[in-house]
Amino acid sequence: MTGVLQDRVAVITGAGQGIGRAIAERYAAEGAKVAVTDIDGARAQEVADAINANGGTAIGVANDVASRESVNAAAAEIAERLGTITILVSNAGVTRPAMLWKMTDEQWDIVQQTHVNGSFYWLQAVVPGMRELKQGHIILTSSAAGINGTIGQINYATAKAALLGMARSASKELAPANIIVNAIAPAASTPMTETIRTDERFKDKYLESIPMGRWAEPEEIAGVYVFLASPDCNYMTGQTFSVDGGRVPVR
Ligand SMILES: NC(=O)c1ccc[n+]([C@@H]2O[C@H](COP(=O)([O-])OP(=O)(O)OC[C@H]3O[C@@H](n4cnc5c(N)ncnc54)[C@H](O)[C@@H]3O)[C@@H](O)[C@H]2O)c1
Repeated sequence: MTGVLQDRVAVITGAGQGIGRAIAERYAAEGAKVAVTDIDGARAQEVADAINANGGTAIGVANDVASRESVNAAAAEIAERLGTITILVSNAGVTRPAMLWKMTDEQWDIVQQTHVNGSFYWLQAVVPGMRELKQGHIILTSSAAGINGTIGQINYATAKAALLGMARSASKELAPANIIVNAIAPAASTPMTETIRTDERFKDKYLESIPMGRWAEPEEIAGVYVFLASPDCNYMTGQTFSVDGGRVPVR
């Protein structure tokens, strides 16, 4: 396959389903060599198999982003099998909703470890290779929750706000090495959003808050991730993009 990401080596974390899977498939269609990583290694392999069956190039790698050891091992395996990583999409995510007065340390910790530590570990794993090549595109995944705050997810909103700071700081530190870092606040119909899309208590209210009046499929928003990893995005860094039907203007 040929396209704007031709022969680039891309890692997408949490790509066993949802938005990550759609990004992996689209990157492969654009010619990238894709490492599909997920804590569920079997699902990662299934996605990689589907990409290869469609004429793309992908490998599946089991990886828990919350473990530095696992991240370093996955990064080494990917570099060995595909070459130097020049695109990172830190996408893996979990939610553990609870009102703040009921939230446990476990609920707090797993959300910080997955989103904040996971993104930091992956940044540290890929940046040395990118600095050597003087080429790289990094996309961190924030959320409307991290921009506006949200009820019942103080752990998640805090983590997603931290990622905006991480993207801005990393963009400044890495700009001299020609490494582009941006953040996305996406919204799409995935397993993660099933409750707010289907539960009678939330679904109508949430839908009313989307100016476009509907949920997107993950495939509809994957093109923005292509742009942010492509040569057309070589002079824009440290920004946050809401891809959410007009719901949250970035302030
Ligand atoms: N779907 C939305 O509307 C929405 C809105 C805002 C932000 N986001 C963010 O977008 C990203 C993707 O969300 P999604 O809706 O596709 O979610 P999803 O739940 O459908 O998929 C998340 C994937 O991450 C994997 N994962 C979880 N913990 C992991 C870990 N420790 N290591 C590696 N993989 C792990 C899961 O196995 C799963 O495959 C997440 O960071 C999420 O917070 C999504």
